[in-house]
Amino acid sequence: MQWSRIAVFASGQGSNFAALAEAERAGQLGGGRIELLVSDRPEAPVAKRAEEAGIPALLLRPKDFASRELYEAEIVAELQRRDIGLIVLAGYMRLITPVLLTPYAGRIVNIHPSLLPAFAGKDAIGQALDYGVKLTGVTVHFVDGGMDTGPVIAQRCVAVEPGDTVELLAERIHKVEYGLYPEVVRALAEGKVELDGRKTVIRE
Ligand code: GRF
Repeated sequence: MQWSRIAVFASGQGSNFAALAEAERAGQLGGGRIELLVSDRPEAPVAKRAEEAGIPALLLRPKDFASRELYEAEIVAELQRRDIGLIVLAGYMRLITPVLLTPYAGRIVNIHPSLLPAFAGKDAIGQALDYGVKLTGVTVHFVDGGMDTGPVIAQRCVAVEPGDTVELLAERIHKVEYGLYPEVVRALAEGKVELDGRKTVIRE
């Protein structure tokens, strides 16, 4: 499995997918190549973005399969056909089962719009605003069997401003995501991220 052969998984808008595709085009993913988009929502805007970027897409509806495991088995078969070595979740709104997790252990990463372990799960930006924190941010982490619980690879802070709304804060958080995710994906694609228990190190 080559770290440089990347599949991005997304369910919605796909603005992070677009930022990654643009980074690749601009030569900022190092040796990393986005070989495939996987989406569980064929009608999602991200599918159109993949088409525009000329990136092949595997678009499957989970409800067309008898179980979550059979849905994921179909994905794993395609990933193996394409020799994918790194899975990058970018707004993929499903928990992953061992069918995908086991063959790709330590090779799946996610981006989450808070400083984990604060505000895991859905609506992290709304949760942070409701809690009243002054600082929130973005986390890129390895994926394990839990909800946003895997080892942290990188984090960036975003300040909460007086009068912020979910929309305003989300806009600033997204901008940070578009810078951070390509940087981390590049390091992963180049085999520079080391994992030791829960601790990660990005080698220069
Ligand atoms: C991002 O905020 C990401 O942190 C979260 O889902 C959102 C996806 O947005 N996991 P987009 O589909 O990339 O626009």
